[in-house]
Amino acid sequence: MEPTSEPDTGSPPAGERRPRILVVCATRHGSTVEVAAAIAEELRGAGADADVRPAPLGADPAAYDAVIVGGPMIMGWHKDALRYLARNREKLAAVPTAYFITAAALTGTGDDQVDGVPIVTDTWLAKAPRDPKKLRYKERHARPAHYLEKPLKAAPQVRPLSVAFFAGSLDLTTMSIFEKLFVMLVVGATPGDGRHWDAIREWARGLPALLTPRTP
Ligand SMILES: Cc1cc2nc3c(=O)[nH]c(=O)nc-3n(C[C@H](O)[C@H](O)[C@H](O)COP(=O)(O)O)c2cc1C
Repeated sequence: MEPTSEPDTGSPPAGERRPRILVVCATRHGSTVEVAAAIAEELRGAGADADVRPAPLGADPAAYDAVIVGGPMIMGWHKDALRYLARNREKLAAVPTAYFITAAALTGTGDDQVDGVPIVTDTWLAKAPRDPKKLRYKERHARPAHYLEKPLKAAPQVRPLSVAFFAGSLDLTTMSIFEKLFVMLVVGATPGDGRHWDAIREWARGLPALLTPRTP
């Protein structure tokens, strides 16, 4: 009789420690925290211990096996996520990392990396440019490479193993008049909840293997 493999219980083999993964999240109106919570839930299901902490304070990266930093685009990546990266860059450089970015607009450039950093783009978010040879101002601004400029500059020594761009959520009832004008006129966003939970959870499920590979 063929040997059968153990059913996948989400637990590591006996004697092996569960990897500890920290999810640090910035937010302006709360929806990205729910994305972080879904990511943590998937990490736990995949056999890791996951803590979610708000940026910019977060937690000490040195206490974890891997760190994920996320936040929304708010006229650039949220300043609290950038602050966490900048303040912890030395320690973050010593652990495997991944970033996620929620946004209302993203130009689908077809790239799968930015400066050698692998990127994943939610197909619900990425929009092909009208003329790929001649990007308009808004399309240039919403390129993955442009969104990643500040995070990579805030902590140049940190090389995330994956950066995911997910569609976010825009609830007009929570926004000031200035915010509404900015997102509608400048970003060109469509109000509503665009979060694509399958894409978010699928990316999260792949993270333990990517960030904390088991030694044979
Ligand atoms: C004031 C403001 C500025 C924003 N700026 C951008 C932007 O520059 N680019 C973009 O794609 N989305 C932008 N967004 C959309 C947010 O990134 C998106 O709604 C996100 O899901 C909000 O996350 P939160 O609920 O955690 O704050 C902006 C939203 C607000 C309210």
